Amino acid sequence: MLKQLLLFVFLLQISNAADCPICPRGGIWSEWTSNGVCATTCGACSNLNYTRTCLSDGLKNCPCVGSTTITQPCGTQACNYPRTNGPGAPCCIGTPKIVNNWYHCASTSQTTPTAPCCPTGGVWSDWSSWVQNGNLTEYTRTRNCLSGGFSCACVGESEETKFECPCTPMRTIYAGSTACAHLTSKLIHNVREPYMDKALCRTYYAMEATDFRNDFAFYSAKYNATMSTAAWLDKAGRCTIGNFPGSYTNTNGAYWRLGFKCNTTSGAWYNTWPAYDIDMKEVALFAQLYTPK
Ligand SMILES: *[C@@H]1O[C@H](CO)[C@@H](O)[C@H](O)[C@H]1NC(C)=O
Ligand SMILES: *[C@@H]1O[C@H](CO)[C@@H](O)[C@H](O)[C@H]1NC(C)=O
Ligand SMILES: *[C@@H]1O[C@H](CO)[C@@H](O)[C@H](O)[C@H]1NC(C)=O
Ligand SMILES: *[C@@H]1O[C@H](CO)[C@@H](O)[C@H](O)[C@H]1NC(C)=O
Repeated sequence: MLKQLLLFVFLLQISNAADCPICPRGGIWSEWTSNGVCATTCGACSNLNYTRTCLSDGLKNCPCVGSTTITQPCGTQACNYPRTNGPGAPCCIGTPKIVNNWYHCASTSQTTPTAPCCPTGGVWSDWSSWVQNGNLTEYTRTRNCLSGGFSCACVGESEETKFECPCTPMRTIYAGSTACAHLTSKLIHNVREPYMDKALCRTYYAMEATDFRNDFAFYSAKYNATMSTAAWLDKAGRCTIGNFPGSYTNTNGAYWRLGFKCNTTSGAWYNTWPAYDIDMKEVALFAQLYTPK
């Protein structure tokens, strides 16, 4: 049993290229491929264009070095007939040479780059968007192993299923955060943490609706509407400020509910008011703003 296990481990090791922890020199390229059909079947008498793509684009700081297209002789097997026995040469380019028990035209061996080593864990494509499974609270996303063609197996699952809303719960920006201080002189109101409806995949904020204690609402002549101001941060911590319709100015201590939908591509939240030129996109953290009285 142990012997079998060891053999298995050994096979696993030789079937993979060596491990490389970070980025191999020159990046990781796919194999050369061509959509074309070679005009001749032997003698390296024709050319084909080949292209390849950079697989390590998906890794941080691992750009590929080299060209993405190449023109190479194709149909490189030496001609047996009529050229070998006839007047023509068996090769248009080079001389016949035995490679892997086959006659090839010597100078035309294909440039077949191989990965010098495998990045740890392989190279995965980005995850697809989450796709909801019918009416169920079940979301699935997939990804592909890009380095698989290089015998660099990927570690991890190629499919992930969640039985709840795939968006990361939104949080509040607390008073004292300086993330938006360069964009506004208004202050952050400590709204309570948002409520997330995991089944319907919505998030709701309780917004202070009145100017009872501080100035939350203001009248916009441009839109002939009572507006509120909000600040929101995306996942990278970038702040955006925007005015949006809603709120009242004369009902003491009233609250109103602001809703967000889940963006299943990015896993963040959004809300839009097309008529008011405001687009809350990629919201990860959120705050209501006010002017102190
Ligand atoms: C092959 O590449 C060359 C140079 O980039 C280009 O001129 C030629 O049109 C290409 N041939 C085909 C069949 O795409
Ligand atoms: C979703 O639920 C509704 C109402 O229960 C039903 O009419 C509809 O066929 C369902 N759709 C799917 C894709 O299951
Ligand atoms: C502004 O809106 C109010 C009510 O919504 C309306 O009665 C009023 O005529 C509007 N004013 C302008 C200038 O459009
Ligand atoms: C959803 O996220 C994707 C990817 O970040 C983005 O391109 C798209 O604009 C977002 N959609 C909405 C409605 O926010």
